[in-house]
Formats: sequence, C-alpha cells, structure tokens
Amino acid sequence: MFFLGTQKINDAGHLEIGGCDCVELAQEYATPLFVMDEAHIRAQMRTMRAAFEAQGVACHVIYASKAFPCLAIARIAAQEGLWIDVASAGELLTALRADFPAERIVFHGNNKSVEELEMAVRANIGRVIVDNFDELEMLDTIAGEAGVKQSIMLRLTPRVDAHTHRLIQTGRIDTKFGFNIDGGGARRAVETALGKANLEMLGVGCHIGSQILDAPFFTLAASIMVEFLAQVRDELGVEFPDLDLGGGLGIRYLPDQSPPSMDEYVGTLVGTVREQLDKFGLQMPHLAVEPGRSLVGEAGTTLYSVGTIKRIPNVRTYVSVDGGLSDNPRPALYEARYFALNASKANQEQSSRVAVAGKHCETDVLIEEADLASPERGDIVAVYGTGAYNYAMASNYNRFRRPAVVLVSEGEADLIIERETLEDVLSHDLLPSRLKAKDALAV
Ligand code: LLP
Repeated sequence: MFFLGTQKINDAGHLEIGGCDCVELAQEYATPLFVMDEAHIRAQMRTMRAAFEAQGVACHVIYASKAFPCLAIARIAAQEGLWIDVASAGELLTALRADFPAERIVFHGNNKSVEELEMAVRANIGRVIVDNFDELEMLDTIAGEAGVKQSIMLRLTPRVDAHTHRLIQTGRIDTKFGFNIDGGGARRAVETALGKANLEMLGVGCHIGSQILDAPFFTLAASIMVEFLAQVRDELGVEFPDLDLGGGLGIRYLPDQSPPSMDEYVGTLVGTVREQLDKFGLQMPHLAVEPGRSLVGEAGTTLYSVGTIKRIPNVRTYVSVDGGLSDNPRPALYEARYFALNASKANQEQSSRVAVAGKHCETDVLIEEADLASPERGDIVAVYGTGAYNYAMASNYNRFRRPAVVLVSEGEADLIIERETLEDVLSHDLLPSRLKAKDALAV
C-alpha cells in the first residue's frame, strides 16, 4: 500500500486522513472534496526549517503560496515561522488577511502592475523580487512617492535546463522570467538597482523550475549564482547579505517516485553553496528557499464519488467521477500522473485496472491507468498528492462549482474553503437591458 502523511486504513476498511474517515467526510461535505492533512503540512514546514538549522545556516523558508493560497494555510505557515511568497494582488491580500507579518512577505512576478507595487509598498512588505528593468523604475518611483526605502532582491536566470515538464522550467535562457546572467543583463540590473535612491538592494535569487526530482539541477543553479556574486564583488565591489535559491523540490505522486528528502536537498544545496563561497572567498549570505509543492502537495487528497462506469471490452473501463479538469487541470496541462485508490474499499486489493475520467465535456482523463478495488457507483475514490496547484488552479469550466476544502487533524475536520454555490458561479453575469426582452430576435 502507498500512504502519504497521516493516511491509513481504519477499522471500517476506509481510507483515513488526519484521523477522519474519508467516506464520512464525503458524506458530510459532499464531493469533490479536497482534504488537507494539517499534521503533514506542519511536519514538512518544520523539517525544511530544521534541515537548514542542522547545517548551521541561517535561512528563510518562504512558502510559495501559489501552490495553495488560502487563509488557513497562510496562517499555518505564519505559525510555523515561515515567510510567504505572493505572486499577485490576490495572493498578497490573502497573506495580509491571514495576518502574515508584512516583513516576512516577498512579492514575485514578471509583470507586476503599478497597483500591485503600490499595494506592496503600502503594506510595507519585506522584499519585492524585482524581475525586470521597468519594474526597477516603477518601484523606485512608487517607493519615493511613499517616502520609503523598499527592500528588494533581483530575480536572475542562471541558464539551467531542469528535467521537468517544459511548461514548468523557468531557469533556461529562453524564459520570460528574470534578468539573464548570460549576456550581462543581470550585471546591468545590479548596477541599476544599486543606483536607485529609494530601493535597498539586498541580494539576488533564482527559481529554475518545479517538481524537480534530481538534486544536481539545484546545485548547478546554486553554483552559478555564487559565481555571479563573486563577479559582482570583483567588478562592483559589493557583497550582498541575501541569496534566494527558489523552490522546485519535487514530491511523490506515485509509489515508484523518490524525490530527494528535504535533508538531502538542503544538505547538497548548502554543501555546494559553501564550496563555491570558499572557492571565491565570499562570506555565507543569509539564504532563502521558496518551496511550495513540497510543503503542501502530499498533504492534499481529492475525494470524488464514482458515477458512470463504461466498460469497453478488451479496451478499457472508464470510471467517471464527479470532478475532473476543473479541479485538477494538471494531467491535461502537464501530462501529470496521479495515484488513486478506492477509499470505500481501502482494505481490499486495488486490482481493477481502470481509467479515472472526469465529467467535463472534454476527454478529461485524470488517471489513465489506476488500480481500484472493484469500483461501483457511489464509491469514494481518493486521488493522492493534490495539495499543490490543484485547488490553486481550479476553474469553473462547464460552470462547475469549485469544491470545498477541509483541513483535518487528529480526528477533527474544519472547512477552510466553502464549496461554491451555483449562484456564486453566476454572480458576475450581467444581462444588458437591450438583451432583456425575451423575444428580441423575433422574426
Ligand atoms: N518561487 C518561484 C519564483 C516560483 O515561480 C515558484 C513556482 C516557486 C517558488 C515554488 O515552486 P515549487 O516549490 O512549488 O515547485 N502549476 C505548475 C507549477 C508552477 C510553479 C510555478 N512557480 C504545476 O502544477 O506543476
């Protein structure tokens, strides 16, 4: 059997998470339902922080809230002493409403608007991660008008082709993000930033991609970043206090995947940074990392109810569930693969090979080959590893309602996001008066 976090099989033979029976959760809150395992989230956050402490290195662990932006998880991250990364006005507002200490908020984005920058400066956030020359100018002006000196870092692109899906690689030369180190853009950006009266330049950062399962990509990026710091020291005579090495650590979606543990990841990362610093005679900066998926991904499980079952002899059996593309677009976007089991029959052998399909007017197959214990209409299917970039990327396609999310811990379940109502879904539609006459098109 394959379990993540606090998942286990209970005496009723059902899947249990955080001490809550998944079949009962489905009855109480309806499906599709996201179940978030609080103990697992907290454990991941603590493990990441402890891993840096064990290396004797000061590091801000910054929760990349895009993985799952909501009040409850932001609050948990704040309680666990993390920082938070926001990438839009909406994520910033979420962090602020969760009472996240403003000095621990960092703002990312390749095309931040004037309104977003103003909001960040007004809120007095800890760092703006500046992505391009326009933004340097805009932010300097906005900070000047507000009479403050805004702390910034620069996002650099260190030319690393991480082996992950093409759409989630961001460290290559050919990317919309950041200042490229190759070609001198990064060096010019540092000089420009140092000349801005209203900006306090604290350092540089990078993020090379997501769901990375091989540590060497991280260490390559870290080496290039430190080499760049040495170049800046030699050519401009400046050493920065901060170095941000981004997020990207992969998780276990399938039983046969083995991402580096947090201790391995941190150990190799810090080891490389130390070696490179020694080589160039630089001091250890204050490090930062920005994990999203590795903090919340494995903590999420989606519960669906089985509906129609279509058997095509000698071809395939389609088990259709009551969600799909709208609550999990990742299979369609990235060919992402997931593990599922029949949570109603968790104690039985999961041996019927089926495709788990959604109910959208699309070929929204969530899992092409899943092994479920004799699926029948009404059974609850649990799809693992849906805590990151699932609810966050959910849509109302086909006018589906976005699902509810419950946070489970020690036998208690609390709703942290309500299911949308159909009225919510229609709430922004307007009918102009010239369309109001029902027979306007009468011929
Ligand atoms: N920092 C920056 C600047 C980022 O852009 C990201 C993710 C992270 C940190 C966090 O990366 P993580 O630790 O979660 O891998 N929607 C895609 C993932 C997009 C990631 C975007 N940036 C997916 O579903 O796989």
